[in-house]
Amino acid sequence: MKILILYATTTGNTEYVAQIIKSALKGCEVDLKNVNDEGLENFNDYDLLIFGTPTWGEGTIHKDWKTFIENLQEDSLKGKRIALFGLGDSLMFPKHFVNGLGELYSMCLAKGANILGSWEIEGYKFENSKALISGKFCGLVLDQENEAEQTVRRVNEWIRKLLLEAEETDSR
Ligand SMILES: Cc1cc2nc3c(=O)[nH]c(=O)nc-3n(C[C@H](O)[C@H](O)[C@H](O)COP(=O)(O)O)c2cc1C
Repeated sequence: MKILILYATTTGNTEYVAQIIKSALKGCEVDLKNVNDEGLENFNDYDLLIFGTPTWGEGTIHKDWKTFIENLQEDSLKGKRIALFGLGDSLMFPKHFVNGLGELYSMCLAKGANILGSWEIEGYKFENSKALISGKFCGLVLDQENEAEQTVRRVNEWIRKLLLEAEETDSR
């Protein structure tokens, strides 16, 4: 399986987690890129896309993702299988925890993507989040500020489930 991991970051946490995700994808061919990198227009070479964003400001997606999605050709994400991950700070921002992940979900959905990799909310402490869709997170949620010790376990568990889900959707 050929996979592209794409991230935006300001202080480096999302890039760091993207590298952990890459390491967890054993046996897959993985490209790891920043959304600001050149030449990211065509995703047809990939079986699965994994997009990651931190949340900044008053609960918004990283600005680089907005620019990237706005500049995409209309159909470039149509029908593509995309899994999402988001970083936030549940202690400082419990009322808009990982909202950026929810915004990325809405943007990808609006472009016609097929979103995989929802994630259970058990074990997280927060009050509200735009990333909550039908009682689950719409992607993997990580908190490097308060729960960094959980990250590798969460990534490995999410990747295990995600690859199974990708296999199932492949055979349909
Ligand atoms: C000014 C500021 C605003 C933030 N706003 C939010 C927020 O609304 N919700 C949230 O969950 N995390 C928020 N965070 C936490 C960041 O998402 C978190 O630190 C993340 O790991 C940063 O990722 P990066 O290093 O890849 O940029 C904020 C952090 C800062 C410094």
